[in-house]
Amino acid sequence: MTASGSIRRVLLVGFMGSGKTLVGQALARRLGWDFRDFDQEVRFRVGLPIPEIFRQHGEAHFRDMEKEVGAELLREEKVVLASGGGWPTDIGRMDALPPGTFSVWLMVTPEEAVRRVREEGPTRPLLAVPDPVARARILLAEREKFYEKADLALDSLGRGPEELAREIEEVIGSTGRERSPSASA
Ligand code: S3P
Repeated sequence: MTASGSIRRVLLVGFMGSGKTLVGQALARRLGWDFRDFDQEVRFRVGLPIPEIFRQHGEAHFRDMEKEVGAELLREEKVVLASGGGWPTDIGRMDALPPGTFSVWLMVTPEEAVRRVREEGPTRPLLAVPDPVARARILLAEREKFYEKADLALDSLGRGPEELAREIEEVIGSTGRERSPSASA
């Protein structure tokens, strides 16, 4: 659970295709906070799409950039953050979230994750394999123990971004968050 005190940022974690970006954008709008996406920031800094970063520089370079970006973005306040699906899986990372961070795991099945990601085209190098569902099952099984450290777990199946964002807003509203004058809530 997050350290005591008011919530100053929300971190969304979960597997590829769990809806972190869409839910994060919806939640940020509701709260009147900024939205920042780890992958988008890495893409911007390297100047290449994620699959190209993997191809040209290798996954290790991507993970280094992701670590740097994550550490920086987790210092921001009044912000909703979407991490990449692999970010929480570094040992100790979910245990060392800065005070004031409320973390949410958006749950998705491997089948649904692959279905959603497929609709976006070839954007996820880790699932660019002959049997992406089998790969997603393996990765998810390895990662669940990290994701489940989040303060809140929400099933994303059959629920749209607005509904999920509203539920998160309700939970953090009752837990205590820093108010923003422009917030609609
Ligand atoms: C990854 C997830 C991706 C992106 C990269 C690696 C992972 O982000 O960071 O392709 O290891 O699960 P999303 O979770 O936003 O798809």
